[in-house]
Amino acid sequence: MHRFAAALSLHAAALIALVPSPPLRAGSSSQLALSADGRWLVTANIDSDSVGVVDTGARRMVREVPVGQRPECAAFAGGSMEALVSLYKEDAVAVVDVREGAVRRKIRVGDEPYGVVCDRSGTRAYVSLDYPGAVVELELPSGAIRRTIPIGGFARGLALSADERRLLVTEFHTAALVIVDLEKGAVAERLEGSPSDNLSRQVALHPTRPKAYLPHLRSRVTNPHGEGSIFPFLTVVSLDPEAERRRSPIAMDTFNGFTAVSNPWEAAVSPDGRRLYAVYSGTNDLHVCEVLDDDYRELSRVALAGVGNHPRAVAVSPDSSTVYVYDTLDFQVRVIDAETLETAALVPCATRTKSPAWVRGKVLFNSALQPMVGRRWISCSSCHPDGQADARTWHNPEGLRNTTALAAMKDTHPLHWSADRDETQDFEHTIRGPLMQGRGLIRGPVRPELGEPNRGLSADLDALEEYSSSFEPTLSPHAAGPGKLTPAAERGKALFFREDVGCAKCHSGPTYSDGALEPRPFRLHDVGTGGDDDSERLGPGYDTPTLLGVYRTAPYLHHGKARTLREVLVEQNRGDRHGKTSHLSQGEIDDLVELLKSLPYELPETRAF
Ligand code: HEC
Ligand code: HEC
Repeated sequence: MHRFAAALSLHAAALIALVPSPPLRAGSSSQLALSADGRWLVTANIDSDSVGVVDTGARRMVREVPVGQRPECAAFAGGSMEALVSLYKEDAVAVVDVREGAVRRKIRVGDEPYGVVCDRSGTRAYVSLDYPGAVVELELPSGAIRRTIPIGGFARGLALSADERRLLVTEFHTAALVIVDLEKGAVAERLEGSPSDNLSRQVALHPTRPKAYLPHLRSRVTNPHGEGSIFPFLTVVSLDPEAERRRSPIAMDTFNGFTAVSNPWEAAVSPDGRRLYAVYSGTNDLHVCEVLDDDYRELSRVALAGVGNHPRAVAVSPDSSTVYVYDTLDFQVRVIDAETLETAALVPCATRTKSPAWVRGKVLFNSALQPMVGRRWISCSSCHPDGQADARTWHNPEGLRNTTALAAMKDTHPLHWSADRDETQDFEHTIRGPLMQGRGLIRGPVRPELGEPNRGLSADLDALEEYSSSFEPTLSPHAAGPGKLTPAAERGKALFFREDVGCAKCHSGPTYSDGALEPRPFRLHDVGTGGDDDSERLGPGYDTPTLLGVYRTAPYLHHGKARTLREVLVEQNRGDRHGKTSHLSQGEIDDLVELLKSLPYELPETRAF
């Protein structure tokens, strides 16, 4: 290096060391975005396809802006009055002029954008892509994609370190914290949790201490029982590579004394660094904790306050005096005085566009309270988050059972791998059973699973059915375009329909399943998978599963023993009982897998059943 340049950079380094770090608002992805001055709050209204703009001084919504399909998170672009909003179902980020209430543009970023954060200067934004698990760096204002950085599994929560050199990313199904070095544009570190850690959507940062806070679940699949399967956690991660302990998981139920909380969604640290707030979307609580600077206990409990229905987001004002909680299924922001913990205002922030029954169904699906659940630990959404799979295989009394995604469920009755239920109302048995121990939604006895219908016996149960049936598969990102396949997938399609391979004999019709409610007893197939699990009570015949969306639902088969689609066709197809694959070349198997990954490449017509 040139001597002069070396001297200059030394000088610069000394200067940086002398300047005390400014009070930094660490950027963290959230469904709530506060402007840098704290005057404006933007809510990403997931069920209204809009954002709400709340004037925090007047405590009222000044405008609601339609933005596009399924806004998940929002972030202000630096100190500007523009907000970036991730549109999960549109594969885009909307740039919203908060003052004018107008969408300035939409930037296509890739499949399933979830989290979004922006640097303080408003010139760089980062977007996490849930599937395939990557982070995209956007240049602002141009909107050009500068880099795409692969993360691993499903990428959700994002936080930008105060020095803006590191980006923290949470993996949804493992709660791993992945640290990206932004200078190198590559993953620098992966901090793994316990193998049962699951569903981590967000990460909050302390403004001055090198600590990150991850709300997540622990799913103990060996105990499908309301008191021992799903636990709420907040893991404190040390960002100091020299620290003795990098991850300190805190069980938030026992932390709390006798009241269990469930389904932690987001956490926020007050800008003064003294408090941590966490919301529990299953039990409708807000935890208020003191942050301890002890590298040991980390948090002590101040209070547990009740909030509204299904809180998914929390934010704290720049002066730390006010806490905002987004009660998503009351469509309102709750303004809480941090001192007294009293609710100072309830601010409506989203129009209800869904039917009352759908909203009621979503409340019940997410609730870990009576009449759904007896012991407050679990809800339907703890295993079926927003209708998606949890990537787990549960040790159920009937044997190993991989959680199914509910995306094509309304068109693929009967239900369950073993076709032992014929309507979602039969999940009253799950609600009243050992898993959930709820009072149940029907007054009086519930009818047997395959007997007379349980439909029509309870408005709430019918609402739960309406919500559970509303998920739809989206176009696979592996398709070449709507209605189009890549050449490899085209070759795979020809194999799939070839008589000697025989996949379409069972995976038939628009849903790629021959499951139907007629004739009875239901059609089941023994494809040679029933003998691998000693605990199996119902096999060896299973209902043909739909193949729509299988690109994102590993592991596979009822027992979850196939880790990849290839394993379904090769290792797990001993004896060619599951279609004939042994005579196919490696390349042909690859082509078949390409087809499976591309489903759906066209959206299925709804099939009457
Ligand atoms: C402990 C995790 C867990 C909880 C809690 C849970 N499920 Fe499931 N769910 C599963 C698993 C595992 C399967 C696959 C089981 C099978 O097929 O036998 C499943 C299957 C289903 C299916 C069948 C989908 C299909 O296409 O066959 C529906 C519908 C469903 N669950 C709805 C619900 C509802 C409604 C609730 C709440 C009342 C609920 N689940 C609670 C784990 C869970
Ligand atoms: C005889 C009927 C039948 C044929 C033929 C058949 N399948 Fe299947 N398929 C099933 C059944 C039943 C299951 C569920 C088995 C289990 O879970 O143990 C299944 C499961 C699968 C799965 C796993 C889905 C998931 O969500 O876990 C994939 C992928 C699959 N089949 C692809 C294929 C392909 C590709 C072919 C052709 C080579 C094929 N199947 C031929 C009936 C069939």
